[in-house]
Amino acid sequence: MKLVVFSGTVYGAAEEVARHAVARLQHAGVQCQYFNRTQLSELLAAEPQALLAVTSTTGLGELPDDLVPLYSELSAQLPTALRGLPGGIIGLGDSSYDDSFCGGGELINELFEELGIVQLLPRLRLDACETVTPETDAEPWIDQFAAALLQYTNVAP
Ligand SMILES: Cc1cc2nc3c(=O)[nH]c(=O)nc-3n(C[C@H](O)[C@H](O)[C@H](O)COP(=O)(O)O)c2cc1C
Repeated sequence: MKLVVFSGTVYGAAEEVARHAVARLQHAGVQCQYFNRTQLSELLAAEPQALLAVTSTTGLGELPDDLVPLYSELSAQLPTALRGLPGGIIGLGDSSYDDSFCGGGELINELFEELGIVQLLPRLRLDACETVTPETDAEPWIDQFAAALLQYTNVAP
């Protein structure tokens, strides 16, 4: 099972969470490859068997600029190689933005639905209003995700 992880960030928090998740998932026995500012061709060349997206939100519910090119390519091409893969989403935001809270994660959620990616857990939403250590707060979710992925690998045909 090879998990491909990609992130979208403005100030670096989502990248830190993604890097922390990769370290923790690898420790749990999941093979990971992390991409930062990647293109679709590079992501597909890694032959992902599972996907984890970690993204913050900017503007009013928008994706960070560094994730927009990959998001646009994925939305335009909907590659069939990703259909049916297991996945997960960690969204970072700030609940003071009310209706657009974690809007970046929501956009990825809609994209994953279009791609046919099967989310193994409800997506995690990390609120900057409530935590200054999002990577630590994400740990229980990451551990559950690792367990779900390993179980999925064992039962998948
Ligand atoms: C200009 C700006 C716009 C933001 N817009 C939103 C938003 O619409 N919704 C939301 O939930 N959080 C919003 N946030 C909060 C960030 O998503 C949050 O602080 C996040 O932890 C930043 O992560 P990053 O360092 O990876 O970019 C915004 C932050 C800034 C500075």
